[in-house]
Amino acid sequence: MLDWDDYHVDEKTPSRPPVQENPSQVAAAETAASNANPAEQARRDTPAVAESTPVYDTVIEGDTSATKMSAGFISDAKTPESVSTDASDAEPNQTGNHSDQVNAALKQLDAAEGIAELEGASTRVRVDDKAMINCRADLNQLVPFKYDWAWQKYLDGCANHWMPQEINMTADIALWKSADGLSEDERLIIQRNLGFFATADSLVANNLVLSIYRHITNPECRQYLLRQAFEEAIHTHAYQYCIESLSMDEGAIFNMYHEVPSVARKAAWGLKYTQTLSDPNFQTGTQETDQQLLRNLIAFYCCLEGIFFYCGFTQILSMGRRNKMTGTSEQFQYILRDESMHLNFGIDVINQIKLENPHLWTDAFKEEATLMILEATQLETEYARDTMPRGVLGMNAAMMEEYLQFIANRRLVQLGLEEEFPGAQNPFPWMSEMMDLRKEKNFFETRVIEYQTGGALSWD
Ligand SMILES: [Fe+2]
Ligand SMILES: [Fe+2]
Repeated sequence: MLDWDDYHVDEKTPSRPPVQENPSQVAAAETAASNANPAEQARRDTPAVAESTPVYDTVIEGDTSATKMSAGFISDAKTPESVSTDASDAEPNQTGNHSDQVNAALKQLDAAEGIAELEGASTRVRVDDKAMINCRADLNQLVPFKYDWAWQKYLDGCANHWMPQEINMTADIALWKSADGLSEDERLIIQRNLGFFATADSLVANNLVLSIYRHITNPECRQYLLRQAFEEAIHTHAYQYCIESLSMDEGAIFNMYHEVPSVARKAAWGLKYTQTLSDPNFQTGTQETDQQLLRNLIAFYCCLEGIFFYCGFTQILSMGRRNKMTGTSEQFQYILRDESMHLNFGIDVINQIKLENPHLWTDAFKEEATLMILEATQLETEYARDTMPRGVLGMNAAMMEEYLQFIANRRLVQLGLEEEFPGAQNPFPWMSEMMDLRKEKNFFETRVIEYQTGGALSWD
């Protein structure tokens, strides 16, 4: 964390670390340039609109000549001298005098009426007004806090910020391209997992934004959901970054969730829970629809993020422990840290909803939740068999099956349900160490700190 007391203005401002140059991108760009046809060349020589030089007026306190902020391009820009501060000097244009139109519109603006249209915003929010679902208190007022655990997770998520370009992929590219660096079984594991995860995190992100967000009715949890949504975008970015770095067939990898049964079945299982809630007419507020929301939360947090990710994470991290595909493994390690927080947040959300709405947690619903966990365990076991037809990396499908049963027991207990696999042991105890990854113990910690510091100081 940057300590401003330690910062001296005469120190050289740390810069953001250079983005890893992706050798495959460089090679691809060089090839493309040498093969480009004249039309393509002309297109590249023509600057895009976004490449025009924008002009931003600087707002300086006390400088009345520059109080108007704009983001126009050079052709539209006025010099500070030409910008009048007197609204009456504004030139009428073809559609009339803008100044009069603006004043007339703002005269009609009734703040009380506008705010009253927001549900529950007519009074100050009290802690007791807040609720996980079906709450009518104003959602725009973050404080007073009621769900401190959600706010703390938001802060923890921000403290763990990282970006895929900070991780060096050079060794992975060399190993992936070498003829005998990896066995066919190891290559299969890399391809399948990048194929599954490249779309799985988009499924999670879309479910968050399109299905869950609207129905979770307190601002602390929504704040974390927004943070989580950004983290899911970073994860999808990380997988894309690996796929591009390794010059994989992007079409084949991104379509695996349509084309490879063990991947497609997991995606389809999750998607069916998104579909009901993403219907714009869906509303919580009845026993049936509130349970539908709970089903979605259990499916995505406990099953998708809490079970479907674990075979792949274990395989890739095992590879990294054996000094193979260390960049890819490191990307997965950071993603796993984020995912374990997503999972814990989801469990807390579900249990809090149960606490506030005990009538939803019926015996029949408990049975249904248990079956969902078992279905997900079964699908992930199928995925383990598909991705490990033989023993590889010191593990095999039978060991993974036991690990998944151990994980399933944990998920059941976290939801307050009975274990289904008594005595299941964890054959991969090193996985818990991987989840406890802390920046200061990691070899690229310095770069992360520099990145954060550089970002903060760029505002100076
Ligand atoms: Fe993710
Ligand atoms: Fe996640």
